[in-house]
Amino acid sequence: MDAVVMLGIFAVVAVLALTVHFPLADKANPSDTTFVPVPEWYFLFYYQLLKYVHGPLEPLATWILPALFFLGLLFWPFIDRNPARHPTARPVALAAGGVFLLVVFGLLGVSLRDLYAVPRMNPAVGRGKAVFEQFGCAGCHRIHGEGGAVGPDLSYVGDTRPEREWHLKHFRDPQSVSPGSIMPKFPLDSKQLEDLTSYMLSLKREA
Ligand code: HEC
Repeated sequence: MDAVVMLGIFAVVAVLALTVHFPLADKANPSDTTFVPVPEWYFLFYYQLLKYVHGPLEPLATWILPALFFLGLLFWPFIDRNPARHPTARPVALAAGGVFLLVVFGLLGVSLRDLYAVPRMNPAVGRGKAVFEQFGCAGCHRIHGEGGAVGPDLSYVGDTRPEREWHLKHFRDPQSVSPGSIMPKFPLDSKQLEDLTSYMLSLKREA
C-alpha cells in the first residue's frame, strides 16, 4: 500500500513539474534595487504568513508558532494514545491534519498568485544586453559604473533618448544622427538592432 501511494505521489509531482510553469525570477542584477528575493516554494506559505504578521505579534509567527509546531510533533506519540489506525476512528487527528494542509496550501496559493504578478524582464532586453557585451560597447560606454568613458554614460539613456527610431538610425550609422561621431558602425542584423534598442530604452531611472 505504501509503495502504491508513493508511486502515485511521484507521478503527480512529475506531471506537475513537466506541465506547470513556475514563475522564476529574473537573473540577479546588482543595479536593480527593486528586486525582492523570495524563498524556495516549500517555504512560500510561511513567507506569506510572515507578511500578515507585524508589530508585537511578530515573535508569535517567527518563533512561537514554529516552536509549538515542532514540540507538538515531538510529543505527539505521548499525547495521542489512540491505537486505532483507520481514518474514521481518528476524527480529531484527521481534522487537524486537514486544517493544517488547507492553511499551508491556501497560503502557498496566495503567495504564488503574487509571484506570477511580479513583472518580468522583457526577453528582448536580455538579448540586447548580450549583444551589448558581444560587441564590446562597454569599452566606450559606462552603465551603472561599469565600462569606459570614451562615449556618453548610458545608465539612463532610455530617459534622454526615448525614441526607438533614433537608436535604430544611430546604430545603423552613428554619423547620420550625430555628425562627427567616432562611434563605429557595427555589423548588426535586424534582430540584434531591435534587441539592442530595447535594451537601450530599458535603461531608465524608473524601471
Ligand atoms: C569607440 C567607442 C565607442 C564604441 C565601441 C561604442 N560607442 Fe556608442 N558612442 C560613442 C560616442 C563617442 C558617442 C557620442 C556620439 C554619438 O552619439 O554617436 C556614442 C553614443 C552612443 C549612444 C547615444 C547616447 C546619447 O545619449 O546620445 C548610444 C545609445 C550608444 N552610443 C550605444 C552604443 C552601443 C550599444 C554600442 C555597442 C554596439 C556602442 N555604443 C559602441 C562611442 C562608442
